[in-house]
Amino acid sequence: MPSRLTPDTRSRSNARSDSRPGASAAAPVFPAMPDFSARLIAWQRQHGRHDLPWQNTRDPYRIWLSEIMLQQTQVSTVIPYYAKFLARFPDVAALATAPPDDVMALWAGLGYYTRARNLHRCAQVVVEQHGGEFPASVDELADLPGIGRSTAAAIASFAFGARATILDGNVKRVLARVFGVEGFPGEKKVENAMWTLAESLLPVDASDGEVSAYTQGLMDLGATLCVRGRPDCARCPFAADCVANVTGRQRELPAARPKKAVPTRRTWMLVLRDGNAVMLERRPPSGIWGGLWSLPEAAGEAALAERARSFGGDGAVSSLMSLASFSHVFTHFKLDIEPRIAELDRGVGALAALNDADTAWVALSDLDSFGVPAPVRKLLDSLQGSLI
Ligand code: ADE
Repeated sequence: MPSRLTPDTRSRSNARSDSRPGASAAAPVFPAMPDFSARLIAWQRQHGRHDLPWQNTRDPYRIWLSEIMLQQTQVSTVIPYYAKFLARFPDVAALATAPPDDVMALWAGLGYYTRARNLHRCAQVVVEQHGGEFPASVDELADLPGIGRSTAAAIASFAFGARATILDGNVKRVLARVFGVEGFPGEKKVENAMWTLAESLLPVDASDGEVSAYTQGLMDLGATLCVRGRPDCARCPFAADCVANVTGRQRELPAARPKKAVPTRRTWMLVLRDGNAVMLERRPPSGIWGGLWSLPEAAGEAALAERARSFGGDGAVSSLMSLASFSHVFTHFKLDIEPRIAELDRGVGALAALNDADTAWVALSDLDSFGVPAPVRKLLDSLQGSLI
């Protein structure tokens, strides 16, 4: 159970963590602000966002879908995907029974594809284990695939009025600045301190509407005023008390991730083309782009030629040509991509006979029906204009 500390139970001291020898395990102490939630709710009602497509509903399915899409993805990117998903899968049962390829195809371009696989599994668990109704408690929601502690709190507060705090990247930034939380928020110790702080700030005895306004207020403040680059402190309801604003440390708080070199991987991709069709291969279910349709890959030039030969014979190998290399940056590494193209001349009828569960010859104009990773899609789209 989340602790139900109220602001009054916390110290009113402005002291930072105790730096005396032997006192390093002491929990950090943050400035008290007993009216934090009241000020945030008032600000949200007047200046926050009220017309996002997933607002003004208590439907847990719609709220859950939006929260999963909004993990790591901006509102403006999510909006068209959210509309497409709801049109195709209007309720959790429709999503649960959809073929996995349909879900991946609709998700293609949003990135972080584990989210799509978990989304589908979550819908199935809700139908099979919860009778098609999302559970209302934070703990039960957090047990579902793809729902972490913060997302569970967002769903529980918006859909069920639960008194539960969110703590996503935006909220960490707000708390680090307003309360002067030192350290990189991705570090466990700092994150734990932020959870404790966030829970202590929750409104006490709040109505459902106040809980929603409070949760939305945290999101809105982080997304519209307390942004990473140039925070708009002049319009912030906490400007007078905010540690970062008062001490001019907006750029230093929250502390940046300690620098670590991003490893680079390299892969060779094969564009096997026959007329206006290309060959796609389904990627293994886990790992990057798991389950999506992509180009056949190999770990080097020779291995790629071997794959070209196995699909298209000697003719494919002799026509192999380089396309411009490019890179794609993932969270934990950079992928350098070396595309090679080989031309076949067999005709689409002959090619279709080669299709199986994990191989598909696809017209370049029909890529929308397949979940293709965004950088691969960009490469294939660039070929469409160059057809002979
Ligand atoms: N980011 C995460 N959840 C959000 C929501 N419900 N509205 C706007 N931005 C969000």
